Amino acid sequence: MSDPVRMLTTLAKALSAMGLYQPGHPARERAVDVAYEELIRLQRSDPYAQFSFLGDEVVFGQAALREMGAWDWGRKLASVGIQRLEIVNMVSREEYADFLDDVVSRLATATAPSTAEARPGGGRRQSIRFGAIGIRGEVPQIREESRDGAPGTRIAYDLGAEADAVRWMHDEVATRGELPLMEAEAVVRSLAVAMHGDSQMVLPLVQMKEFDQYTTTHSLNVSVLTMALAEHLRLSATDVRTFGVAGLLHDLGKVRIPKDILVKPGKLTEAEREVMQRHPVDGARLIVASDKNLDLAAVVAYEHHIMLDGGGYPKPHYGRGCHHASELVHVCDVYDALRTNRPYREAWESERVLTYLGERAGKEFDPKVVHSFIEMVRGWDQRVATADGKPTREGGTT
Ligand SMILES: [Fe+2]
Ligand SMILES: [Fe+2]
Repeated sequence: MSDPVRMLTTLAKALSAMGLYQPGHPARERAVDVAYEELIRLQRSDPYAQFSFLGDEVVFGQAALREMGAWDWGRKLASVGIQRLEIVNMVSREEYADFLDDVVSRLATATAPSTAEARPGGGRRQSIRFGAIGIRGEVPQIREESRDGAPGTRIAYDLGAEADAVRWMHDEVATRGELPLMEAEAVVRSLAVAMHGDSQMVLPLVQMKEFDQYTTTHSLNVSVLTMALAEHLRLSATDVRTFGVAGLLHDLGKVRIPKDILVKPGKLTEAEREVMQRHPVDGARLIVASDKNLDLAAVVAYEHHIMLDGGGYPKPHYGRGCHHASELVHVCDVYDALRTNRPYREAWESERVLTYLGERAGKEFDPKVVHSFIEMVRGWDQRVATADGKPTREGGTT
């Protein structure tokens, strides 16, 4: 058993013992002693230990702890707002017991702190920080609102944890230039599960009201749409997942765009447009620099605004086709962008977007890819309409 696994296992045992026995009970104190010993042992090998708990995944640093797959404490901790745990300094036993106490009372009352409260250990503990993913930066409160007349494929779906993870990921890239690949993959795994989870209903597309949340929700949506399209095109399971990661990261370069340009209501000036159009190159660079095995995601980040006929940006140096994954992401990207309210225009209804996409087959989009996409989304819209008892076509509800 590795140090991080032992540390987590003993932490869970201590939490169980604390749930059973009063303070001062020997069994309880002994469990805390053992957990503390394992924490210290871990700190000797890893002075800065970071864990993420997301779905069934336990991530330590940059590696998934495979042997923790069946460990249900990750989900329990995440459910009370502890998706991330960082040990940043040497911890005293008292401090650790204090932290465990806090976790036990959260578990007992089953209260997840609101995302905004979940800052570094409530600010009291200097050495142990925990909270929703996003503890490094500000975590704005977000709510996915999808019920207010949201049409078509926008189905209410709770992807709060995934949205937190993506926001945190962008923050990490922006502030430290490091791409947390394990978390990105965990998000995609979790999206894949969500995508298949509901047999009757369609897609967990997230809709966000605040415009500065746009890149987060858009990244999630493009990832899910790309995976669904890849499945629709009968690609292999490995390709579906790899394309999903590429979809999630396609706009990563936007972390380099100043916020006032990113959320500007109204048309961009020529200079601002130039800044905006740098994001494919910046994104590809950020991904390559992260030195992880993400070649395809880098290619897709670079190519996702290049059109079939060579239009778009960045301008290719010589005529060549884009990667198949980029062709899929390109279609899904335009669909999600047009289906979303933006500062400068209202969301379009699904059918209008599909017509728009179809008209650009062979010019902007690969015909086979775009026609498959249209077929897939029409199928969903039909199911949604049937389930709602409404006619198939939406009546301009956006
Ligand atoms: Fe983009
Ligand atoms: Fe995009």
